[in-house]
Amino acid sequence: MSAVLEARGLKRDYHVARGLFAPAKTVQAVKGVSFQVERGKTLAIVGESGCGKSTLARILTLIDAPTAGELFIDGQKMDVTKGVTADMRRKVQIVFQNPYGSLNPRQKIGDVLTEPLALNTPLSAAERREKALAMLVKVGLGPEHFNRYPHMFSGGQRQRVAIARALMLNPSLLVLDEPVSALDLSVQAQILNLLADLQDELGLTYVFISHDLSVVRYIADKVMVMYYGEVVEYGSRDEVFAAPSHDYTRKLFASTPRADVESIRARMAARNASAA
Ligand SMILES: Nc1ncnc2c1ncn2[C@@H]1O[C@H](COP(=O)(O)OP(=O)(O)OP(=O)(O)O)[C@@H](O)[C@H]1O
Ligand SMILES: [Mg+2]
Repeated sequence: MSAVLEARGLKRDYHVARGLFAPAKTVQAVKGVSFQVERGKTLAIVGESGCGKSTLARILTLIDAPTAGELFIDGQKMDVTKGVTADMRRKVQIVFQNPYGSLNPRQKIGDVLTEPLALNTPLSAAERREKALAMLVKVGLGPEHFNRYPHMFSGGQRQRVAIARALMLNPSLLVLDEPVSALDLSVQAQILNLLADLQDELGLTYVFISHDLSVVRYIADKVMVMYYGEVVEYGSRDEVFAAPSHDYTRKLFASTPRADVESIRARMAARNASAA
């Protein structure tokens, strides 16, 4: 198996001004993090607010440069400080928690989806339109949505649009930063099922950031738990859930309401039923 993503000792410091006379303070948001994700697999990253998850997501998606460490995607070293080429950019895409914030309210969905193709490929307008229409169907929307604006969609549909947009350039890697946290439970399950289906169909590799352990248990192959910028737990889902080794992880797991276990079972059953 080949690693689509490899992080070696990634660090990110922020220098925060503290006023006119005080020296700037350094926040070590990510403190030397290493991991690998194999092709077609999902790594879930869990941890409390402020532990560095989104900072890491920005580094993995080439939005931000690490202070130290190395990042490889498809075996190719990604050095953002030397500039991000179109070829680098199309390898990895991000889906955020709130797609409304990342969709231009004045841009029709058809334009949202064809824009990456117009910027990065030599395809004609007719070919771009055809690909966008096919992608709408793939994410569970339809051709009738092509000419609609973001405000005409529900939260779950908007997240489908965000996923469609992320997939337009056939990325190797999708980083999902709390992609279902703002959605109702039933809609969460639909989006998680869509992501699982797309992963099977397209061989996608996911880094899935979540604070919801029931979601993590459902989607993850491997789990990485972060605590104050460090990795305190990293292993297969079953290992981490069966025998959490770090004190913080045990507390995190202990604080997960019992009801979550039931909701996982319900979602699994629903998914298995729809697959049958
Ligand atoms: N641009 C920035 N400038 C200064 N400090 C920052 C910046 N971005 C993040 N930080 C700090 O880095 C740390 C990690 O933040 P990050 O957003 O990565 O956390 P997170 O794990 O995504 O949290 P949440 O679960 O709330 O989204 C925090 O202490 C945060 O205040
Ligand atoms: Mg975050």
